[in-house]
Amino acid sequence: MGKVHVYDHPLIQHKMTIMRKVETGTKQFRELVDEVSSLMAYEITRSLPLTDVEIETPVSVSTQKMIAGKKLGIVPILRAGLGMVDGFLKMMPNVKVGHIGLYRDPETLEPHEYYLKLPTDVTERDFIVVDPMLATGGSAVDAIASLKKHGAKSIKLACLCAAPEGVERVQAEHPDVEIYLAALDEKLNDHGYIVPGLGDAGDRLFGTK
Ligand code: PRP
Ligand code: URA
Repeated sequence: MGKVHVYDHPLIQHKMTIMRKVETGTKQFRELVDEVSSLMAYEITRSLPLTDVEIETPVSVSTQKMIAGKKLGIVPILRAGLGMVDGFLKMMPNVKVGHIGLYRDPETLEPHEYYLKLPTDVTERDFIVVDPMLATGGSAVDAIASLKKHGAKSIKLACLCAAPEGVERVQAEHPDVEIYLAALDEKLNDHGYIVPGLGDAGDRLFGTK
């Protein structure tokens, strides 16, 4: 079963609390999603392999470490996942970015795919799927399945806020995928919203409500 990592660094908890507040406006919400995403990217990349390189400092020749040419890709689930991309790119400016468009039907809560564009060398990359919200898990499960169908072999999932129901569904359907969270909340309500959650992440990011 895929491991679940909840990053409870004080900076992440503090920023998540402000993000959750109903009075936090679009500008600040967007900035906070960006900042928490960078902090998560820092933690998620902790296990990246390193290689020795010989360099010359102003003082001497020295053997030092650099990241060993690992090919990575980030795949935001549109639309709210877009809010996490820049935060990840600040830490990993050279990664490629694929996009998967999914929206959740408000009645059935079922995800519908409307867009997919991935790097051409899918089979050679390690992917991180990013989406602020993991609620029923339907969107994440479908996005991961789509990536796998196109040949992706190594996938991680990074979300800001999750319900236990969503975590369990991803673990059940994609046991090979590790999940990285900024917060694991209590439950889903009858409308499929995370409680206490932060509301509709897409609307809060893009000011559409
Ligand atoms: C939200 C969110 C996730 C999904 C999570 O997207 O960004 O993609 O819901 O819910 P689930 O785990 O139950 O599938 P939404 O469908 O509202 O679309 P949007 O990003 O375009 O606002
Ligand atoms: N999607 C959101 O944006 N928020 C939730 O709480 C659940 C799904």
